Order: sequence, then C-alpha cells, then structure tokens
Amino acid sequence: MSSGGVPSAAATSSSQCCGQHGSRGHSARRAPPLAIHEQEVGVADTLQLEPLTEEAFVANLQQRFKRDLIYTSAGDVLVSVNPYKKLALYSLDVVEAYRNRPILSHLPPHIFALADKAHWNLRERNEEQCVVVSGESGSGKTEAARIVLQYVTVAGSGPSGAQQDPALAPIKLIRDRLLQAGPLLEAFGNAKTHKNDNSSRFGKYLDVEFDFKGDPVGGTFTSYLLEKSRVTRQLAGERNFHIFYQLLTGADIQLLKSLKLHRNIDNYAFLRPSRPLSMETIDDKRDFQVTKKALETLGFSAEDVVQIFKVVASVLKLGNIGFTPTSNIDGTEGCTVTNDYELFEVCGLLGTNPMELTSALTQRTILAGPVLDSPSTNPAPPPPPPSCGSLRGVKSGGCSSSAAGTPPSFVPSSSMSSTASRDVYEVCEMLQHSTLARLTLADERGSTSTAGELVVADLSASEATASRDILCRALYSRLFAWLVKQVNDATRVRKYGKRKVLGILDIYGFEVFEQNGFEQFIINFCNEKLQQAVADCTLRQRQEEMLREGIEWTPVDFFNNTPVCELIEKNNHGILAVLDEESQRGGPGGDESFLARLCHTCGSSAYFETRNCAPHSAPSDLPCNTSVPPNCFRLRHYAGTVTYGVTGFVDKNNDTLPLDLSLAMFRCEHPLLKNLFPEGNPKRTTLKRAASAGTQFKISVGALMGNLQSKTPHFVRCIKPNELKQPRIFENALVQHQVRYLCLVQTIKVRKSSFAHSESYESFLHRYKMLSPHTWPSWRGSAVEGASYLLRDLPLSSPHFAFGRTRIFVRGERTVAELEEFRRQRLEDLAALVQKMWRGYRCRQRYILMRQSQIVIASAWRSWRVRVQVYEWQIGKTRLFKGKKNLFCLYRVAREEYRELKRRKQIEWAVQVIQTHYLQWRRRQFLQRLCVSLPSESPMCREWPAAAKRLSDTSLLLRRIHHKWRCHKYRLKFDQTARNRMREKVTASIIFRDRKASYPRSVSHPFLGDYVRLRQNVQWKKICVETNDQYVVFADIINKITRSSGKFVPILFVLSTSSMLILDQRTLQIKYRVPAADIYRLSLSPYLDDVAIFHIKAVSLSIEFIFFFL
Ligand SMILES: Nc1ncnc2c1ncn2[C@@H]1O[C@H](COP(=O)(O)OP(=O)(O)OP(=O)(O)O)[C@@H](O)[C@H]1O
Ligand SMILES: [Mg+2]
Repeated sequence: MSSGGVPSAAATSSSQCCGQHGSRGHSARRAPPLAIHEQEVGVADTLQLEPLTEEAFVANLQQRFKRDLIYTSAGDVLVSVNPYKKLALYSLDVVEAYRNRPILSHLPPHIFALADKAHWNLRERNEEQCVVVSGESGSGKTEAARIVLQYVTVAGSGPSGAQQDPALAPIKLIRDRLLQAGPLLEAFGNAKTHKNDNSSRFGKYLDVEFDFKGDPVGGTFTSYLLEKSRVTRQLAGERNFHIFYQLLTGADIQLLKSLKLHRNIDNYAFLRPSRPLSMETIDDKRDFQVTKKALETLGFSAEDVVQIFKVVASVLKLGNIGFTPTSNIDGTEGCTVTNDYELFEVCGLLGTNPMELTSALTQRTILAGPVLDSPSTNPAPPPPPPSCGSLRGVKSGGCSSSAAGTPPSFVPSSSMSSTASRDVYEVCEMLQHSTLARLTLADERGSTSTAGELVVADLSASEATASRDILCRALYSRLFAWLVKQVNDATRVRKYGKRKVLGILDIYGFEVFEQNGFEQFIINFCNEKLQQAVADCTLRQRQEEMLREGIEWTPVDFFNNTPVCELIEKNNHGILAVLDEESQRGGPGGDESFLARLCHTCGSSAYFETRNCAPHSAPSDLPCNTSVPPNCFRLRHYAGTVTYGVTGFVDKNNDTLPLDLSLAMFRCEHPLLKNLFPEGNPKRTTLKRAASAGTQFKISVGALMGNLQSKTPHFVRCIKPNELKQPRIFENALVQHQVRYLCLVQTIKVRKSSFAHSESYESFLHRYKMLSPHTWPSWRGSAVEGASYLLRDLPLSSPHFAFGRTRIFVRGERTVAELEEFRRQRLEDLAALVQKMWRGYRCRQRYILMRQSQIVIASAWRSWRVRVQVYEWQIGKTRLFKGKKNLFCLYRVAREEYRELKRRKQIEWAVQVIQTHYLQWRRRQFLQRLCVSLPSESPMCREWPAAAKRLSDTSLLLRRIHHKWRCHKYRLKFDQTARNRMREKVTASIIFRDRKASYPRSVSHPFLGDYVRLRQNVQWKKICVETNDQYVVFADIINKITRSSGKFVPILFVLSTSSMLILDQRTLQIKYRVPAADIYRLSLSPYLDDVAIFHIKAVSLSIEFIFFFL
C-alpha cells in the first residue's frame, strides 16, 4: 500500500508508467536515460562474479546497494534488495528504455527487464507466463509485484497510447482497474507489523489476461487466507488493518457522523492497545483518498462505499461492546451488554434489532443430550460447541425473558449429521413463533430414535467477548472476500478472442515473531511451498533435465525443503492432517491433544521438535527438550527455525461461526450481510460442513503451485537489507542468511554450468526455420537434422549450442538474443517482401481499372459528342463539317468508323483464328479418340466410332482406308488354297452379287465343290476313268424336277471339267452325261428358291434340265 512511505515512491514514479506524462508513441525510440547507463558498480550479472562464493555475492550486493543499484541478476533469478527509500528507477523514461530496447542491447538488470521478458514471451512466443516474487516479510515483494503489474499493463499499447486513442479506452479502463485493485486490497488486507509497515496479511495471485497485441483485457485476483485474527488482536507495536485508521483519519465529518464514529483512534478497543507511537511512514489521511479513488475506479457506487464503511465501522463499534457478568437464578453465569449505546449504534448501522443482536452475542442455542450422527463419520460423543465451554442458564420448554421475541438459534456441532442439521434449521424456522425447544431428531436413515434437546444457554462475559470477536473477524474477513469478488467482477474479461495469461504472485513473506501462531504457521507453510517450487524450477528440474538429455553435468547440491513440506501437508500423517483430526474431534483441550498427537506422529522428523521430542529422537524416548517452550512445537523451515505456540490452532483451523450469529447477521437489513452470511438463511438446504481452514489453504496452495508450474516462470527474489526498515543500512549477516536460504549461489552455479535456454527440436525449428534456406519454408526431415542444418547456416559458433536427446540447449542469453535478432530481421525482410508484392499487385490492379475506366469514359464521351453533332446536323441546327470545328468532327466520325471497321475486321480475323484452332483441336481430339477406339481388325466388322457432323466425311474416308487396310492385312494371312478359294468367292461375287437373293447367305461358306466326297469314292474312281471325268468341280445331292410330273427327284449331280453328269445317288449309275460343250446356257433363279436351269444343245433335240439345289 502506498501508505508505506517509500512505496509511494514506486507508486508515484510508477504511476508515470500509466501515461500521465508525455505522449510518446509505441514505436518511438529514445536513448535510454542516463540513470540506466551509469557506470557499472560491482557485478550486475553475477554469472561473471569471481570467485563465486556467498561472501563475494553478498559483498557485491552491498557494493551495488550503496550506490542505489538494488537489482542484480543471479542466473535465472532477479535479486532485488529493498532500498527503503524512493529511487528514480521507475520513471516513464526508464519504462520506455526497457520497453523499446533493441534485443541485443545491454541494459542493467531491472525488474522492468524481467517484466518485459515475461510480456515479450507472452506476446511473441504465445506462452503463458508468471512472475513469482518471494522473500521474507518486508523484503519488497508487494512493491515488486506492483511494479511488474504497472509495467506489463503499459507494455502493450504503450503508456500514452491508451490515453489518446478512444478505441483504446476499454484497455485504459481495465488497466486503471487492475492497478487500483492493489491499493484497495492493501487497505483492507495489509497492516503494519514489526517486519513491515505495509505487510500483506493475505496472499495475492493475479492472472492478467492479454489480447494478441499484448494489451491487458482483464484479470482475476485470487486471495489466500486473510490473517483475520488481527481484527481483534495485534501484537504490541503492530497495527490493525489499514482501513480502520484510514477511515477514522481520512473520512470527512459527515461520513464519520453517518457511521457513528469518532475521529479519535483511542476510542476504539480494537485499535487502542497496539497503537504505535509514531507513524511517519504511513499517511492514513492521504491513503484514505487513494482507497476511495480505487473504490470509485473499480465501479463501486457511492451507496456500496457507504455500506462497506458501515461494516467496517460496525466491526470497530462491536469491538467496544463490553459484557458485565450476571448470575442466573439457577446459579449459572450469564452476562449483559455493558454499553448499550454502542450496541444500538451497531444495530443502527447493520439494520437489526438490538434484542436480536444481544441474544446472538450473549446466548448460544445448542443441542443438549445425545445427538444423532452417522456412526461412520464420527463415533466420538458430541462435544460442546467450541466457543461455549459449558451450559449455563439453560432455558428449555418455556419462554425465557432473554429469548423473548428472539428466534432461537443453534451451533452446528461438528458431530451433527447434515440431515440432522437441516431438521434443526426447519425447527428453528418454526420456533420463530414458539419457544418450545424440545425436539426429536430423525437419524439419517429416517428412523425415529434417540432425541437431542435444543436448548438456549447463556454465555459468560468472557464467552460473550469471544463470541463478539468471532463475529468481528467473520464480518471483516467476509467483507474482504466480497471485495475481492467485486474487484474480479470489475476486471473480468469482457472481450472474446484468444487470450494469454501472465500471473503475478505476491504472497505474504516468511515471518518469525516472538510469538507465532496458526497464522504464522500457514504463512510459513505457503512460503515453504513457494521455495520448493522455485528450487524445483531453478535447481532440481534444470539439473535433472541435463542428466536426462545426456549432457555432461556435475550435480550441484542445494537445500531441499521437500521433507518440511511433506511434514506439514502429508495426507494422514502431516501436521495439517493431525490438526484436522483434532479439529473434527472437538472437545476441550484440543490444542494440547493436538500437540501430543503431533509429537507422536511427527516426532521422528529431523525438522520437528517439541518439548517432549527432540530431533532424531524416537517418540518413545521423549527426552525433555527445554529449548522449546511448553505448548509449542518447533519447525526447521528453509528460512529458519520457528517456534509455534499451539494455543488457538484447533479453533482457528475449525473456523466455525456460531449459527446464532449467522442467523442474526442474515436477518440484518444491511444489504451486504445477506451475501456475507448465506449460511444464516434458514431456507438453505445444504448444510455441508466446510473444510477446515488449514485444509482449504493446503488445497488452494496446491492449486496455485500447479498453476505456476503450467506457466513459464520468472523469479524475483527480494532481500531485506535490515530489520530496522531503514535506508542505507545493509546488515551483512541478515542478507547472507537470506542469500543462503534462497540458494542464490547454487542457482548461479547451476546456471553457470548449464544453458540459458532449452527447447524441443520441433519448437526450435518451428521458431527459427526462416533463418536457413534448408529449413525455409518447410522442412521434411527429422527435427534434429533440421536444427543442425539451421545452425550450420547461422553465423553462430557451435560451442554455443548443445544437442540433447530431445532438446537443443543454447548456452548464453546473448546467443538467444542473437537468434531472436536474426529472426526479427528475417521476419522484417519477409514482411517487406510480402508488402512489396501486395502493393505492386494493388497498384497494378488499380492502374488497370483506371485505364479501362478512362477508355470507357473517353470513348463514350467521344461517341456522344459525335452523335450530338450528327443529330444537330441532321436537324439543321448545326452546319456540320464546316469550318475547322466541323472538320474536326468529321475527322472524328471517320476515325470512329475506321476504328469500328478495324475492330470488326479484327473480330472476324479473331473468329477465324479461333475457329481454325477450334476445328484443329476437334480434329485432333477426334483422331486421338479414334486411335484408342478403333474397331476390330476383322473385315466383317461393321462398327465405327461416331464422329461430329462436321467430321463425317473425314470419318468415312478414314473408315474406308481402315477397312482396306484390314482387308489387306487379312489377305496377307492367306496361303495358296485360301487364295484360290477367295478367287472363287470373288468370281462368285462378280457373278451373283446383287443378282441373287440367296447370295449373301453363301458368302461366308467356303466353296468346296465336292460336297459328297465323290472324289474319294472307289466306284466313282472307276467310272470316271471310263468317261474321263476325273476332275470333279461340283458334286452334291440335289433335286431334279421331272419334266412330266414336275416332281422333285433327288439325284447326284456332278460337274467335271469335261461334262455334266446325273447319277443315281445310291448306285452311282450314270443317267445322263452331257459334255460341257453342249451346255450353252445356265439360268439361275434370282429368288431364294435355288433353282438352276442348264440349257443343253443337242443335235437332235434341245433339252433343259431344271434342278433344285437344296
Ligand atoms: N523498490 C522499492 N523502492 C522503494 N521502497 C521499497 C521498494 N520495495 C520495498 N520498499 C519499501 O519496503 C516496504 C516493504 O515492502 P513490501 O510491502 O513490498 O514488502 P513485502 O515483501 O510485501 O512484505 P510482506 O511479506 O510483509 O507483505 C515498502 O512499504 C516500501 O517502503
Ligand atoms: Mg507484501
């Protein structure tokens, strides 16, 4: 909170980052301010420190600290030493210098450099980032986190960009809200402690969400366990939460009046006892304005603000309520409110009935007698409620004066089943009009069995005070939680689109007081976990990675705090588990019993001590360890040994609010209280017992660690130079202690002998592939091979890289920066190329369009002019073509016509050319198609591919040629016999074709002549020799038509080369023999009847033979 004096230095100077000065554009580059370039003092980057020892490291820090150089680089970690004074390190100039610095420039270590790297990674590498700030209380974590937030919120559009561009107004609003959330939460969650005047009493993790440009679009705050015990009790010299003092000091008189407050702090019991004498580092009055402004910026209405302050005022006033002991008639102790006017005023603020509040504070409704419970959940007998040691003034079955008109309420027993609780709720509702408090509770299985009695018990004065304190703590802590929720609503992302997150962790610092309680235990556990996460990342994982990747490595030892973490959080056996068991068990003496069980469970740990068990001793030995006070246990944390008093551990872990109080608060008219005490609603059906404070914290810290591990971390280790909170004092021993437990020297050693950056081959190649012609634009081989090609093409020497099994390692930050610079230049070149091509293309397109438009317009204009001229001439208005002007018109008409003719001619020519080419193309197509689809080579085949009409002649011609060709091929296959047969066929064709209907039928049959195989007949052989008819040309059985009767007579008809013979078909006896010379004609029927007539010339007579050939 800026109330801490020096923080306001950071706040004021850093607020300049938000663009209140200057109007510099995002890309403007100025020379870095002188402060950045000042001569290097000591060693800024301790990787170069020689010799690298703890002493040398501390001396170096001191040397730099003296010259106000508070940031020193230690490997992957930035060390920040709290200067406790305003430094000119956070001005706008410095922001700009880091924001716009060239990649290869060398600027001194600075938190801006770290924030810039995180933001750059987020923007350029598209990886989620987190900045983890750690250190002990008062070391400057909150300041560092605030500076990081201020830097990253302006790093996108720049500090002044958002102010000027109205489109960036939403970004500015989010930026302002994110920045204002800090002061608001600090006002309510920070307090002055011995360690720090502005000590965070809650843990805070902020996820800032960015759009693709790197501008913030929203954020989510997560708060971790507020130290609410501070509301009612502070150590001497410490203060309550800032807001109480701010309200009393800063509020105007009207506001105070409306809140029924007085300005004097001493009037309030919760502020009075610990009031420090001088508070020159805190200006509450000014800080109140800051808080009010923050509330306004975050969108709280004036009404909301008043309601918030009413709750704060109520807490203060409740703290003033005292209780006077009274004795009841039955001899038990009761109490009454001492200062009724305070109570009335509280009731006025909260909008409730004084009687109701009084009974909620001074009475407790409890279940007396056996209470049903599920046996599996808690077999132990039901304990009395934590804040009520015994029952006094029990009023049952009748109307008590104190309860008159007041609805009864009850304390939910930890052993009560939820069903039973619900029943009790219903009864409570019912009892709003009745005072009968005897009930029968049904067990969870529905059986009606043993009864529990709902009774109202008076509280003693001390119990009522405790009850009042519980209420105050609950009121305040719930108000705080509500505020965080409202802040998150105000900073919620409202834009759609891809977003990346940068987390900033500012958790409460490690602390050791003279008396340490549950709160310190929780705070230190959180720090322990954080230390484990940082050591894991910077030391363990890095070393393991080197070994895993097969890179030569000498292990570096470091303090591993995992056993301490396990000691605290281990399931079943850890301190938190034991505490939970004890909290569930309830009953008196919980804290002592807790300690005893701790001794039993954790006694064997080397990091744990109690009075009864020393380190390394078995619990059975139980030697008396007088160094540990009674009722205490001691833990050896990474940052030192802390002794915790167990008093209050169980109650604080239980963290239950008596239901009387919840009911009373819920019934108040104050609009916030219904939200803050939802469990007070009698209509609520779920009454699940909340997890204990310790378990809740363990779960949320576990989730936080998981969240951090999923992001790329950046570490800021804050160091406190002195316990006096004074500038210019550097306590060597104190710093050395911190350097040691933060393992800074080991971190540097590990970093020194390892590599600055490692990346999988795939992602390395993906990022830098444009740097090599081998790998750009795409690489198809293995990623390792691609990476080695890439490196070969770069002007970087190979010792800067190492090839692991799955990852590539880059030795130094400078090499990484060089790679990035090469990439940037190459991307610029590529972008210029793309731009060039695009601009050229655009210009060409525009020129073509303009040229065409110009031609169209010009020709339209000309023809219009000519038409007008011609028209005017036609109607005799103008004497066309006379004089210079008309001649010019004539010339234009002629020119137009000439152009038109020329154009037509051109078109004709073009048509011709196109036609010719088209036809050629069609022909080509046809021929190509024909080639592959020629019909069979058989001369008988009649198929032929179809052709376009235009190509039918060509197709016919080709068909003929093809046919001739296949006939030729067919003929080539002939032997002499086939040739003779063909000759016969051709002769037959010449004679019979188109003359005889049966001719086509015979074409396919070869001509045999001797169809009855006469030539082989022995008898015939004898006969033919006699008649000289050896050469038979034709022989077949045919029908002879007799002349007399016209009957068909089958005969053997033979034609030889010398005669025609008619023989008996069976006996082969010659009936007629006509010499060939006597046959003077042969007639054939043109029809299908196969009739042939042989005309014979005879000396005596002329005979005709008519045959019917079958
Ligand atoms: N960079 C800085 N410049 C000037 N003063 C600083 C700086 N860092 C810290 N301080 C001073 O140190 C004080 C303590 O710092 P801060 O509140 O950040 O500590 P812390 O580590 O958050 O402590 P805790 O764990 O108690 O919350 C601040 O109030 C401020 O006065
Ligand atoms: Mg802090």
